[in-house]
Amino acid sequence: MEYRPLGRTGLRVSVLSIGAMTFGDGGVFMKGATSSNDEARRVFDASIDAGVNLVDTADIYSNGGSEVLTGEWIRGKRDTVLLATKCRFPSGPGPNGGGATRHHIVRSCEASLKRLGTDVIDLYQIHMQDGATPIEETMRALDDLVTSGKVRYVGCSNYTGYRLTEALWASDKRNQVRFESVQLQWSLAMRDCEREMIPASRAFGLGVLVWSPLASGLLSGKYDRTTTPTGTRLAIWGDTWKRVATERNFVIIDTLRAIAAERGTTVAAVAIAWLLARPETTSIILGARTVEQLDGNLAALSVTLSPEDRKRLDDVSALDWGYPYSMIGRSQPW
Ligand SMILES: NC(=O)c1ccc[n+]([C@@H]2O[C@H](COP(=O)([O-])OP(=O)(O)OC[C@H]3O[C@@H](n4cnc5c(N)ncnc54)[C@H](OP(=O)(O)O)[C@@H]3O)[C@@H](O)[C@H]2O)c1
Repeated sequence: MEYRPLGRTGLRVSVLSIGAMTFGDGGVFMKGATSSNDEARRVFDASIDAGVNLVDTADIYSNGGSEVLTGEWIRGKRDTVLLATKCRFPSGPGPNGGGATRHHIVRSCEASLKRLGTDVIDLYQIHMQDGATPIEETMRALDDLVTSGKVRYVGCSNYTGYRLTEALWASDKRNQVRFESVQLQWSLAMRDCEREMIPASRAFGLGVLVWSPLASGLLSGKYDRTTTPTGTRLAIWGDTWKRVATERNFVIIDTLRAIAAERGTTVAAVAIAWLLARPETTSIILGARTVEQLDGNLAALSVTLSPEDRKRLDDVSALDWGYPYSMIGRSQPW
């Protein structure tokens, strides 16, 4: 396992980490596309055996069930595993039950610490930007959590470029803790983050934690134009399947399949290896419902794509970057 620094911090995180979104009996939250608690614990154990040192969860995953399961599992190994969790989405009643407000952040952090059975969260992330709350309020609340020792580092997820910049500016002006990482959706099927968030992370020295590296399983090798397995997330989430079952994505899958065959590895491993090869990537948060899936994804560690492979994948997945990106891109990378 390789370990990369989380942005400008001295913290080293494994380049593959494990996500707990499908853990903790999320019948409602994941609409049934979950792991049993026993399988979740086996996935956690196998991840640690492979050198993973970061677990990502959130207060809303399985309505807190994911944090509870993670907390029970981590007992006795707390010193070897970094815990990342998130708040922002509604988790309480009334008009103040969600948001990136001081009220919600402080209350959510206390609740997560309790569910996780720990006295400190290694990386506390705002799950999505909140345009209705002044950024100074959000950053001050996070600064207080770090100062009081409840949180070690803070990060954000699902932010726009302008809001991230505003947050970094607010922290800098007041000499407060800043976001050290962004967590964003990135895969061959979903490259929109390359317009703003990836260049911003490069420019400001932020760690990049990648979510849904297989586009919810689409790039795992089990889907094509005519096959949709039953009982899987994309089979259960019909609306998502309709959105992702596009000719562009099937061409990406064809290309992944060809490269996987040439290299004697799996489609999932090639899809993850494409992300591993990006210098901006700090850690890819694997989603694995079973140990078998985890092993298929960990196989990415032994795949080194050639420049030609990467170009083939870049080309078939390229987006119309739009204005002003395409205009700037004719002269230099943006
Ligand atoms: N910040 C955010 O807003 C946000 C949002 C989403 C996720 N995340 C984080 O990112 C983590 C990973 O996200 P994700 O679960 O969407 O990742 P993903 O890798 O895109 O999808 C994982 C799903 O794909 C299928 N799969 C994975 N590996 C496979 C393999 N080798 N062979 C066949 N099928 C395979 C499994 O679903 P099936 O068995 O059902 O097909 C699995 O649950 C989450 O746990 C969470 O920590 C964050």
